[in-house]
Amino acid sequence: MIKTANVTKTVTTTEGDLQILQPISFEVNTGESIAIIGASGSGKSTLLGLLAGLDEVSEGEIFLDDAPLHNMDEEARAVLRGQKVGFIFQSFMLVQSLTALENVMLPAEIAGLDNPKKRAQDILEQVGLSHRAHHYPNQLSGGEQQRVAIARAFITQPKILFADEPTGNLDAANGKKVEELLFNLNKEQGTTLVLVTHDNTLAQQCDRQLTMQGGVLTESTLIGVEDRKEAV
Ligand SMILES: Nc1ncnc2c1ncn2[C@@H]1O[C@H](COP(=O)(O)OP(=O)(O)OP(=O)(O)O)[C@@H](O)[C@H]1O
Ligand SMILES: [Mg+2]
Repeated sequence: MIKTANVTKTVTTTEGDLQILQPISFEVNTGESIAIIGASGSGKSTLLGLLAGLDEVSEGEIFLDDAPLHNMDEEARAVLRGQKVGFIFQSFMLVQSLTALENVMLPAEIAGLDNPKKRAQDILEQVGLSHRAHHYPNQLSGGEQQRVAIARAFITQPKILFADEPTGNLDAANGKKVEELLFNLNKEQGTTLVLVTHDNTLAQQCDRQLTMQGGVLTESTLIGVEDRKEAV
């Protein structure tokens, strides 16, 4: 379960304080899938980073299950992330000095799971990248790096998976593959999914859709693809 109450984010810039998120309150039940949609620059990635404990709120409260993220320091949040959270970054954030396989193995090694190499090889196969396992990130295409980032987030079978534009760099076939992986994890393991996406098909598959507009988050009712295009 994720619960937020009046969460805001303000950053300091050379031009003064900038409030990126207006007070945000919402809940996501365990096993639910949520899509956050909205224009570029509206605050989607900022919110995702806060929900995952990667960044600190300016005001308000965030609970991941019963853990109060807003009261925890970076070290405590890192422990919690290791236990519960998977994160697929919009910019992938792969370790440049490690191969695709090593990048995927890393979270499994940190979590002390048995046979990290075999696990990583299996997941790389699922995202169609076995043939690129020994390439370094700078030897991979954007879509390939994205799939490595997805495999890395999946390997520990997290309770909560945050994904920022997980299909943003993929062609239709690979996008479909990733979509299936995400929703299989959701259905088979009860993983809570919080996705930021511009992809209408992906958004519509989620239980609920939330719209971010200028730092304000609102619940959208299930609207048709055509309607949503206008809303976004
Ligand atoms: N650390 C920061 N300092 C200053 N401004 C920031 C900072 N982080 C984010 N912003 C600004 O806050 C706004 C929201 O950024 P965010 O990355 O959350 O947008 P987004 O909705 O994810 O956009 P996109 O769809 O393009 O990824 C942007 O205008 C961005 O420039
Ligand atoms: Mg973003």
